[in-house]
Amino acid sequence: MGFPANRLRRLRRTEALRRMVRETILTPNDFIQPYFVCSGRGISKPVSAMPGVAQMSPDEVVRAARETYAVGVPAIILFGIPEKKDHRGSSAWDAEGPVQTAIREIKEHVPGLVVITDVCLCEYTDHGHCGLITGNDVDNDATLELLVREALSHVRAGADMVAPSDMMDGRVAAIRNALDAENFSHIPILAYSAKFASAFYGPFREAAESAPRFGDRRSYQMDPPNGDEAMREIALDLEEGADIVMVKPALAYLDLIYRAKQEFNVPVAAYNVSGEYSMIRAAGINGWLDEERATMEVLTAIKRAGADLILSYFATQVARHLQGT
Ligand code: PBG
Repeated sequence: MGFPANRLRRLRRTEALRRMVRETILTPNDFIQPYFVCSGRGISKPVSAMPGVAQMSPDEVVRAARETYAVGVPAIILFGIPEKKDHRGSSAWDAEGPVQTAIREIKEHVPGLVVITDVCLCEYTDHGHCGLITGNDVDNDATLELLVREALSHVRAGADMVAPSDMMDGRVAAIRNALDAENFSHIPILAYSAKFASAFYGPFREAAESAPRFGDRRSYQMDPPNGDEAMREIALDLEEGADIVMVKPALAYLDLIYRAKQEFNVPVAAYNVSGEYSMIRAAGINGWLDEERATMEVLTAIKRAGADLILSYFATQVARHLQGT
């Protein structure tokens, strides 16, 4: 039966009516806040391409993490900026590295917060690629061993979850086996399963000082047009023991977030990446759009598409807004 018996505007007339039939509601529990950790004390160095985001020393990350947790966000993800880089990225498994130090301090001061770590080598290698280079390409199997060392080092420092973002084949199984062998069978893996070779990571590479020195990441990150292949990546990661799978970036891949949730019905995370953040911030700063509304609209869309968890640089700010503080 159509118009005039049906008038969909009836339930849109007032804010209270709209609230009654609202289908997708963001809560602070939906979010994971990323932080960039460098070494030192008292350091907070703004990232110019990401207004509002800074590289912080462990003590500053503790201060920020305390606030994130206080506004109801249950988890953070840490990225490390080491003092020295080499061809193997060996600072990645340094027990005294910035990430390992930050984990210990956060666990001491904000024990309830879930600390996730990004497991990848691009921030630690002098060439900026996500693994060991042989010839002109990243050597998959040799890289696995290094990623395992990094993941174990994070977990030994107290990380609650590890998130491999390198896109090597077989890395979830390699990390799962190593964790299990060291009595860390309770530590979940959040796999960056469908991670695309995206232009939207641009600002992150300034934040993490991780731009590749030659070539690009297309031989390991996914080709943006491929959706079926993304489902194969997710299926493989689940077989290898991933507990949560991720689609990254979020906005240009909302169809894949939807498909992942429909096809696998497992916890799905989506990464609202640096470029997606910076575009809204830049337009907001210039007065070209209402930043708060645009942010809420975008994050709600990611959840509506099927994401159970959203990694976003807006997380703490949005949670504060949701709490009305
Ligand atoms: C590391 C990594 C990247 C991001 C998360 N982990 C960068 C990349 O692959 O180049 C991007 C996050 C963002 O853009 O916010 N491999």
